[in-house]
Amino acid sequence: MKDRVVVSILALSLAAAGCSQQDAEPAVDPERDAPGVEMEASWRTLSADEVRDAFTYANYQDVRVTHLDLDLAVDFETKTLSGAAVLDFERLREDASILVLDANDLAIETVEAYADGEWVVTTYQLGPDDAVLGSRFEIDLPDGAERVRVAYATSPEAEGIQWLTPEQTAGKEHPFLFTQFQPLYARTMAPLQDTPAVRITYDAHLTTPPELVAVMSARQDESGVRDGDYSFKMSQPIPSYLIALAVGDIEFKAISDNVGVYAENYILDASAAEFEDTPAMVDAIEALYGPYRWGRYDLIVLPPSFPFGGMENPRLSFMTPTLIAGDKSLTNVVAHELAHSWSGNLVTNSNWRDAWLNEGFTSYVENRTMEALYGPERAVMERALDKASLLRDVAEADSPALTALKMPADLEHPDAAFSQVSYAGGMFFLKFLEERFGRDAFDAFLASYFEEYAFQSITTEDFLAYFEDRLWAEQPDAVTKAEIDAWIFEPGFPESIENPQSDAFERVEAQLNAWLGGGAVEGLETGAWTTHEWLHFIGQMPSTITTEQMAALDARFDLSASQNAEIANAWYLKAIPAGYEPAFDPLDDFLVRVGRGKFIYRLYQSLADNERREWAMGVYKRARPGYHPIAQRRIDAIFAE
Ligand code: BES
Ligand code: ZN
Repeated sequence: MKDRVVVSILALSLAAAGCSQQDAEPAVDPERDAPGVEMEASWRTLSADEVRDAFTYANYQDVRVTHLDLDLAVDFETKTLSGAAVLDFERLREDASILVLDANDLAIETVEAYADGEWVVTTYQLGPDDAVLGSRFEIDLPDGAERVRVAYATSPEAEGIQWLTPEQTAGKEHPFLFTQFQPLYARTMAPLQDTPAVRITYDAHLTTPPELVAVMSARQDESGVRDGDYSFKMSQPIPSYLIALAVGDIEFKAISDNVGVYAENYILDASAAEFEDTPAMVDAIEALYGPYRWGRYDLIVLPPSFPFGGMENPRLSFMTPTLIAGDKSLTNVVAHELAHSWSGNLVTNSNWRDAWLNEGFTSYVENRTMEALYGPERAVMERALDKASLLRDVAEADSPALTALKMPADLEHPDAAFSQVSYAGGMFFLKFLEERFGRDAFDAFLASYFEEYAFQSITTEDFLAYFEDRLWAEQPDAVTKAEIDAWIFEPGFPESIENPQSDAFERVEAQLNAWLGGGAVEGLETGAWTTHEWLHFIGQMPSTITTEQMAALDARFDLSASQNAEIANAWYLKAIPAGYEPAFDPLDDFLVRVGRGKFIYRLYQSLADNERREWAMGVYKRARPGYHPIAQRRIDAIFAE
């Protein structure tokens, strides 16, 4: 073993509690630096078995789907999509005689194969329904078959599709539907090889009620008429989890020639204003990492039950309305989803075990984008907040293996790969490389990486091989292999992790401490505080805070009623364990109004953990019908404990 330093979970928790952390000395690898000692072996390439995605039934290493053609009717009465999916494929093994797809909750009607110039009915087997994976859908391939056609319908309970009644929308007049397929729900919309290892192009034709608009993560027909007949084309190969669809009373507002926003009318203008810096974000990322390769970039602001902050569907990011704060304070989420156009959508993790390749790189590009647009002070505040969340997630992890960037082979569900370990952990690893190799060299390297692997799905080991050949070969003394291994393969985070220093946050801490030490609440000078400073202030409030102290803050700053969803969420997370009663009515309202998982999972968990289980179940009973199926499943599990 080398003198690798892994920060223990205890040390991380201490740091999370605000204890100071010393800036680490760059670690020295004695072997590597010693003259005459050979360089250590590089990272080995993985075997086909080792890279195989465990969350798909697909036989994609033998037969690979290359193109999907969807023809679906959107029926709000039955809450189904029905029609046909045609899949083109290529054989990687000549003797392959079956095509194995993923299907989840699909009613399969007929299966045909196209061979020798005609469609013929073919046999298939649909396996038992696994709670995570759905069903193995095995299609027998006649000799010479090059495509299959499946006639089918989705289920009203499809986990990747949320059907909203008119009452659940802002306009109250029309129904709405949107999909969310990452990480493994595309198979609830169509039979597919539902793994990020497989990239496909797609065409889609949809019929909807004529008064509604349909949008997809693809180029749409130019007409722009609302007629219930819509065609789409995605001609760049993408993984299945990036197929996306929304249908509703949706309007469009341009932000620039190439960027615009879709939303229900009530929030359209506010969304266009909130996101007006998006074109500048595109410019900033292009300047750093090379061209945006997807044509237009639009955003759609979904109803509040959208379970994520944002989802990087290509050409059309899906966004939560909780970002519309009125002051652009939460637009790092736009930078993030846009950044996925390089990290994630262009270069994709081929396995969810490598999720940090998507989310860590994206968090890094996001932060660089925020720095380019708004300056280093905002970027460093965002990293400081991210680091606090990272330390929290490391401390709360179910197992040490889930605190390494490369996720373990026995990962139970892809969701476990999406903690701050992949996001902030990955970002801080890249920050470490940036610091060691220098910004200029690192920027050039990242740009070349996106170019080299464009439209490919790769593993952590592929990245490391490229890193070794390029960046590391240029500056062999900048890092040691032991350091890289510690960051990627060992639990916890090395001491070389950045300690983001924000002067603004230091001033916030000084004020907090003065107040906690007995100062008057009137003494807090918060006038010029940004959302970030508020989040730091609330986050740093100790668990010993009294209800009287919370009441004093609330009386002066009205935090229980904050219209900024991040601030409100942070405040409720302190109010619950403190038993601060006046926050509970607004919290009830928040939980019913907002379906974003990042907020509500923690809030319900905290309520359950702090003797508010009954109360929380009462709120959940009212809120649940409005939540997305993904959120329902997660919160059901909290109350089933
Ligand atoms: N790709 C994710 C959302 C996601 C992750 C969906 C895992 C399904 C499974 C998206 O890019 C994302 O990370 N969104 C974040 C915002 C970001 C700024 C951290 C979110 O939803 O909060
Ligand atoms: Zn992301």
